[in-house]
Amino acid sequence: MSQQLSPSYLTQLASEFGTPLYVYHAEKIKEQYEKLQDAFAKTNTRFFYACKALTNVNILKYIKSLGASVDCSSIFEVKLALHAGFSPKNVLYTSNGIGFSEIEEAQSLGVIINIDSLSNLEKFGKKFGHTYPVGIRLRPNILAGGHIKISTGHDKSKFGIPVDQIGKVVDVVQQHNIFVNDLHIHTGSEIKDVDVFVKGIEVLFDVIPHFKELEFIDLGGGFKVPYKEGDAETDIPLLAKKVGEAFANHPNPNGKPLQVWFEPGKFFVSESGYFITKVNVIKQTTSTVFVSVDSGFNHLIRPMFYDAYHRIENISNPEGVEKKYSVVGNICETDTFAWDRNIKEVREGDYLVFFNAGAYGFEMSSNFNSRLRPAEVLVKDGKPHLIRKRETFEDLLRNLII
Ligand code: LLP
Repeated sequence: MSQQLSPSYLTQLASEFGTPLYVYHAEKIKEQYEKLQDAFAKTNTRFFYACKALTNVNILKYIKSLGASVDCSSIFEVKLALHAGFSPKNVLYTSNGIGFSEIEEAQSLGVIINIDSLSNLEKFGKKFGHTYPVGIRLRPNILAGGHIKISTGHDKSKFGIPVDQIGKVVDVVQQHNIFVNDLHIHTGSEIKDVDVFVKGIEVLFDVIPHFKELEFIDLGGGFKVPYKEGDAETDIPLLAKKVGEAFANHPNPNGKPLQVWFEPGKFFVSESGYFITKVNVIKQTTSTVFVSVDSGFNHLIRPMFYDAYHRIENISNPEGVEKKYSVVGNICETDTFAWDRNIKEVREGDYLVFFNAGAYGFEMSSNFNSRLRPAEVLVKDGKPHLIRKRETFEDLLRNLII
């Protein structure tokens, strides 16, 4: 039975900590990590939590305690991961479009680095030669993912060095005797079809013979989680089987067994998260009934940015009659969370909870309209822990020079 927090418990948390409120459930994160470990038990695999999904240091510490490694997308995520206690050898920095000075800083911190441009690869080679191992992020030219904005591996994507430029990559590597021990691809987010990963592996198999010191193949993240009942999700055991078979059929030409890396973000934390809001106003109109909550795209931008579907439940009126509502925020822009959605009868003051709010929820929040960012609570062993205070007016003034 999948780990879930009950509506009555979430209601209790909302009255104790106030709204809007992000709540994360530790045991659900653990359940997800264990699914990966069980499925890949027979494959030489390592999982790096893509912490861009949710970086609260308490979450990082918890994920570290489970035994996972961490993938970062900025030098500050690297610093947060180290601050959370990850050893540098378990911290991966998959950079994109960054200045070389950040790569130098990552090197001085001793973390694992994936480079995504010929320009930085060349600078890296000039400075470090063979002294520091490095990974190369390639763009596989595969279109996949739940929405074009979260597809990163296609032939018009800025991410990675296009695999068709492999000749240039090899020249730079040879010229500077660069110690390439890892090849990386990340095709997109919300990839349902496991064959996309297999296609990615096939692209990499074509180029692997160029890299004699290769130890790791990093297939990125992108596992699809369900957002509603019956929703498609990545079949992790099938993925494990297919990845295992692909590598068994293609031993590393240099003889060293290749370890497979993954960088899941959503898979770790999406379903562990609940975002609780309170209904400010109900507005009957000719086209729909608007329910305005004490939030907006300043706190959860995914529905507006990616047309993402988040299940919404009225936890204050679980026995109410179902009606159609359009749930919107209180921001001075169109911030529609859901249009004409069936929800148990909503009254002003009710709590509405958004599901799958753990990944890219709080993390993409802002102070737009000079509104305050929500508090965050981590529920672990049945106890709630406040892991980030709600912002106050003073926070809006904090960095101002007057
Ligand atoms: N590795 C790399 C290099 C990535 O760029 C990403 C996500 C991941 C791993 C983790 O992907 P995941 O397992 O979470 O799908 N804000 C968007 C998602 C953007 C993902 C960006 N890169 C959303 O809310 O859907």
